[in-house]
Amino acid sequence: MASIKHKNTKRIEGLDKNVWVAFTSVAADPSIVNLGQGYPDIPPPSYVKEGLAQAAMVDRLNQYTRSFGHPTLVKLDPFKEILVIVGEYGSWFSTMQALVEEGDEVIFIEPFFDCYVPMVKMAGGKPVLIPLRLVGYSISSADWVLDQEELASKFNSKTKAIIINTPNNPIGKEFYFIYFFIYFFYNN
Ligand SMILES: Cc1ncc(COP(=O)(O)O)c(C=O)c1O
Repeated sequence: MASIKHKNTKRIEGLDKNVWVAFTSVAADPSIVNLGQGYPDIPPPSYVKEGLAQAAMVDRLNQYTRSFGHPTLVKLDPFKEILVIVGEYGSWFSTMQALVEEGDEVIFIEPFFDCYVPMVKMAGGKPVLIPLRLVGYSISSADWVLDQEELASKFNSKTKAIIINTPNNPIGKEFYFIYFFIYFFYNN
């Protein structure tokens, strides 16, 4: 049997486990209902599928695109009309690789989507976690809040970014007040 000669880089050491792998394996048992992952139970609308099929039939759209973006697309206003990304994982990964230097700190609000930690670690950064605290009766996600002093204590000269996922996955909470503070913190 051929032996595997390659060795993974240090960058990805310890990043092989994640919630998807764990839960998908457990939920492979048909007697288990997987509540950990939502699947759309309706197909996409017909006009979307038809539009996609028509676009795929146009021969000038199946070539490499212009390096500076397709003219129809770059005419749109990225602040008001459109945001094109390669999926959320891909865009977060690219953002972290582009912005996070070795030793930089990135703050996440707990609970958070699982992919942020490995992305920050792979970029050489350090995840800094702040949990939502329960202040009410947990009737709604509004009962879970950020303690402002605790949040302030997480920032220091190494803080590069805070990731705000709103509405939050997994709890659906919206961080209304924080809309005004979505920015990256540069060290100098
Ligand atoms: C907060 C969050 N991040 C990342 C993802 C993954 O998105 P994508 O499949 O576009 O990479 C999801 C998907 O639901 C999400 O809710």
